[in-house]
Amino acid sequence: MKSSQDEVHPLWDDFCRDLEPVSGSGELTALKDKYLSRSRGLVSLELRNLKALSPQNRSEAGRQLNALKARVQAALSKRQAEFKEREHRLQLETEQIDVTLPGYHFVQGGLHPLRQVWREMEEISVRMGFTVMSGPEVESDYYNFEALNIPTGHPARDDQDTLYLANKLLLRTHTSPVQIRTMEKQDPPLRIVVPGRVYRRDATDATHSPMFHQMEGLVVDEGITLADLKGTLEVFLKELFSADTRVRFRPSYFPFVEPGAEVDISCIFCAGEGCRVCKGSGWIEIMGAGMVHPRVFQMVGYDSEKYTGFAWGMGIDRIAQLKHQVDDLRLFFENDLRFLRQF
Ligand code: DAH
Repeated sequence: MKSSQDEVHPLWDDFCRDLEPVSGSGELTALKDKYLSRSRGLVSLELRNLKALSPQNRSEAGRQLNALKARVQAALSKRQAEFKEREHRLQLETEQIDVTLPGYHFVQGGLHPLRQVWREMEEISVRMGFTVMSGPEVESDYYNFEALNIPTGHPARDDQDTLYLANKLLLRTHTSPVQIRTMEKQDPPLRIVVPGRVYRRDATDATHSPMFHQMEGLVVDEGITLADLKGTLEVFLKELFSADTRVRFRPSYFPFVEPGAEVDISCIFCAGEGCRVCKGSGWIEIMGAGMVHPRVFQMVGYDSEKYTGFAWGMGIDRIAQLKHQVDDLRLFFENDLRFLRQF
């Protein structure tokens, strides 16, 4: 007769039948509970019942039960390991990354070349002690002309092809009106620059646009002279172009300054030798400037006996054209990315 020790406990078959359909960790835990739970487990109950047996039978039955318990535990662990392995494989499959797929392409924007030059001009001015101001693009006749000593009927009005709006308003033809607006609000000393958009009734071509950009400058204090104007603009232009840029002043006329001047720089392309850009002259006209006209000071209530000052105005677009050797102004406004990406 076989010893009971070698016989597999009948619970083993039950367990195998129960284990067969188990398909997940949750069910497996429930199954473990059913057989091995300390309080309710079928194997545990059997072990507790050993007490009722005779000492001899007890030890044999005990060994058999312990063997059963070990087999159950091993079978549970094996199945648990299979589940884990399956889960892991599944995770690898679903989270697979195809490193050969093309990446996302982010287009990085940049500052427009005009804005870059605008900023550079502002930065130079701020380093020189100027404050950056701005003013409205829709202006009144008073600020755009009258207060700048350009009364109705003055021939200088005809030079500026003005775009008029309703109610006697207009699109400012220059940044000079911000001189007046600032002086009305602030007492001297004053050191301001005013970059901004300006408008003129011009047909678009390689050198004209109905909208373009200027930067105005104004210095007012006691004892300001023409030497200050020359020195300031020379420093500014050398910073903006290059240290070996030469600057010259030619007498000119603007109603709001006296004396007035046009300012030239030595040609940045031929260093003054004469080329296509400077039309052989060696010089390039870059801005208008002058000593603020006493009448302008009177318009804003400044004491023109006590204060003197100088002002200048230049085209930002023109400077950008020169700096980047762009000979057609229209390129700045067409927003063709093939052009813009170069800056
Ligand atoms: N406002 C003038 C223009 O648009 C430029 C200018 C010339 C401004 C002389 C000034 C100046 O402040 O003093 O043509």
